Amino acid sequence: MTQGLPIRVAGLSKAFGPVEAVTDVTFTAAAGRVTGFVGPNGAGKSTTLRMLLGLIRPDRGSALFGDTQYRDLATPTGVVGAVLDLAAAHPAASARAHLRTVCDLSGHPRSRIDAVLDSVDLIGYADRKVRGFSTGMRQRLALATALLGDPGVLVLDEPSNGLDPAGIVWLRTFLRTLADEGRTVLISSHVLTELQYSVDDLVLIDHGRIAWSGGLADFAAHGTTLEQAFLALTAKETTV
Ligand SMILES: Nc1ncnc2c1ncn2[C@@H]1O[C@H](COP(=O)(O)OP(=O)(O)O)[C@@H](O)[C@H]1O
Ligand SMILES: [Mg+2]
Repeated sequence: MTQGLPIRVAGLSKAFGPVEAVTDVTFTAAAGRVTGFVGPNGAGKSTTLRMLLGLIRPDRGSALFGDTQYRDLATPTGVVGAVLDLAAAHPAASARAHLRTVCDLSGHPRSRIDAVLDSVDLIGYADRKVRGFSTGMRQRLALATALLGDPGVLVLDEPSNGLDPAGIVWLRTFLRTLADEGRTVLISSHVLTELQYSVDDLVLIDHGRIAWSGGLADFAAHGTTLEQAFLALTAKETTV
């Protein structure tokens, strides 16, 4: 495993024409912790995560893994594993064949394949065609793909979309294991309550701006429910 580097985002901004998708976004995700990046649909989560990974060029600001931008990392997929969309595996390929292709393209040893399939509980389905996979299995294959380089940092955009309750519990345990190994885990969701048992730290984004960030316990103290805490904090934000 590579070192779990902190993700440091400072003043990140991006407009698409007249749409200010992300404005002055600043936060840190620490190693050894699960950080939830939460906000409603359209809040700017995916745009932020795509800027972290060098897929969208920011208008302003910086995103660093430790002290290095994604595009300056010597072996990016060995340092940062990302799941932005469901695994783009060919439907006629097996899970193992898909991972073999990714290994060959990215230079990761094929010996990693069984280890990642095992870690996401897909080893029993390794030779089945992806076409027959459920959404949950596709999510797990996407995670397996991100883990091929044994990265110290994981960036996951709404990985619980389409998971059933058992899948969400599985994901929670899985993310905790990764963080306990010293990895940095940044996970986005548009459902605050979905992350309440999963994360150590919260970063709330609304209309492209950070509404609140800090420890989950500090956040929860602002209301009797997470929704109330969210409303209290975002209401305060708009009166500043
Ligand atoms: N490529 C794009 N072109 C134009 N507008 C975009 C593009 N990508 C995102 N947006 C807009 O930016 C805002 C933030 O989108 P996004 O980052 O996808 O939010 P989230 O992931 O939180 O749902 C939305 O208003 C969305 O419509
Ligand atoms: Mg999104």
